[in-house]
Amino acid sequence: MIELSPEELGRLGNQVVDFVSRYFAALGDLPVFPQGAGPEKLRRLLDEPLPRQPQGVEAAFADFLDKIVPNSARVGHPRFLGWIRPSPLGAAVYAEALAAALNQSVAVWEGAPAATEVELRVIEWLKEMTGYAPGAAGILTSGGSMANFACLLAARSAADPQARSLGLSGRTPMTIYLTEETHYCVPKAAEMMGLGRQHLRFIPMDDALRMDPQALRAQIRADRAAKLRPMAVAATLGTVNSGACDDLSALGQVCREEGVWLHVDGAYGGLAGLAPEKRYLTAGLEAADSLAFDPHKSLFIPFEAGCALVREPAHLPAAFSMETSYLPNTELAEAWPLSAGADEPGRPAPFHFRDYGPQLTRSFRALKIYLALKTYGVEALAGEISRQYRLAAGLAERIQAAPDFELLAPVTLGIVAFRYRGETPDGSADPEAWLENLNACLARGTPPRGQVFLAGTRIRGRAALRVCFVSYRTREEDLDRILDEVRAAARDLILAEAPARSGLRRNSC
Ligand SMILES: Cc1ncc(COP(=O)(O)O)c(C=O)c1O
Repeated sequence: MIELSPEELGRLGNQVVDFVSRYFAALGDLPVFPQGAGPEKLRRLLDEPLPRQPQGVEAAFADFLDKIVPNSARVGHPRFLGWIRPSPLGAAVYAEALAAALNQSVAVWEGAPAATEVELRVIEWLKEMTGYAPGAAGILTSGGSMANFACLLAARSAADPQARSLGLSGRTPMTIYLTEETHYCVPKAAEMMGLGRQHLRFIPMDDALRMDPQALRAQIRADRAAKLRPMAVAATLGTVNSGACDDLSALGQVCREEGVWLHVDGAYGGLAGLAPEKRYLTAGLEAADSLAFDPHKSLFIPFEAGCALVREPAHLPAAFSMETSYLPNTELAEAWPLSAGADEPGRPAPFHFRDYGPQLTRSFRALKIYLALKTYGVEALAGEISRQYRLAAGLAERIQAAPDFELLAPVTLGIVAFRYRGETPDGSADPEAWLENLNACLARGTPPRGQVFLAGTRIRGRAALRVCFVSYRTREEDLDRILDEVRAAARDLILAEAPARSGLRRNSC
């Protein structure tokens, strides 16, 4: 018998609920990262034989509490600010368990009737929230990487409808346009769809790290003249490094005039338009051919939840639909927009998500978004997104006012890229190289007191610290603390290096 009795299930459920509420309440007082949890220690901790005999509910849960919880990154901590990892919404956390209990595979309608319809409804709502084209079709994905991949594969299908049957070998290469600030999932998507990295075109950027539309146009024309096939421009709404937002109207105009697909990677910034003061950044989004964005970033939905949207619905099944004898296909004419068919005599045809993306078995991701939107309401979520942007602006102001810090990129949304630039030690032969080394060291890890987690990156070749505001638990008073922790970490590094005098040794951190 492997079915837990109702009593056992109830007891376990109570323990889980108790854990979640206690964990959330305690998070802010814990170090932001587990202390001393290296790979060696964790491997030893988990090194045990395959459990052939039952250890029981209590022991298994105790294992989770003793081994896994203390050694997990404290995502959800008010100062877990490295990378774009949000504090998950409580209602959405429980929705994960509810979805698992129903265990729907949202692939064909008959196998998941309500889940299919909930996902369709959630996609309608997400379109409205992003300000994207109302007639667009979409699908929920594991995250931004897969959403970008799905959109770019739709672009490839549109550029070359025969690519699926003929393959790409021996045919005119297709090119993709991006910048050095584009997320690496775009080059990876180009590789995965067989375009080849040599056909990526990195377009110059302006001072605000936005793609230069004139340089883009020139490159597209040069590629056409060289008998290549310009396939898609990958614009970004909210870059991973600094939250920079490309000028979608200007890029859209180039794309229209040159006949190239405009894709927008809005994985992080796709919901910027929910904040009224940032809506201007999304001008031109509605005309893009596709949009990828992540409810598991700025919407505080627990991982995994991405979304791929394509303005012309037929482009997704053109890229993914496949006939089989054992599963039905979606009747395209009746699929989008959703209301078509509903008003007509007869019934709308069943919709099968298997035709709209790469997966067959798909989890009921839509439920956590559906229940979160109903629980909190879009206005409160939009207010929280605005507050995150204000926190970023507040940190930027402090950095600009502080003589020992420097912003490395304009702050557009909720990401702040900066560096420490305190005094260089007397006798330093090359102060700039010294600062560069120091910041590379700082960017490599959590400051040792464990009070804040920042990530590192490089902006225009310089080592940068990066703060991403996506925790609804972060408060105004955390802002000074962030800078104080970096100052303290810098002081520690400098003291540790005092004997070297002339500068930090490159490998010393
Ligand atoms: C701009 C951007 N695009 C794409 C991605 C990839 O998204 P995911 O990690 O959900 O696959 C990220 C992740 O941070 C991102 O910031």
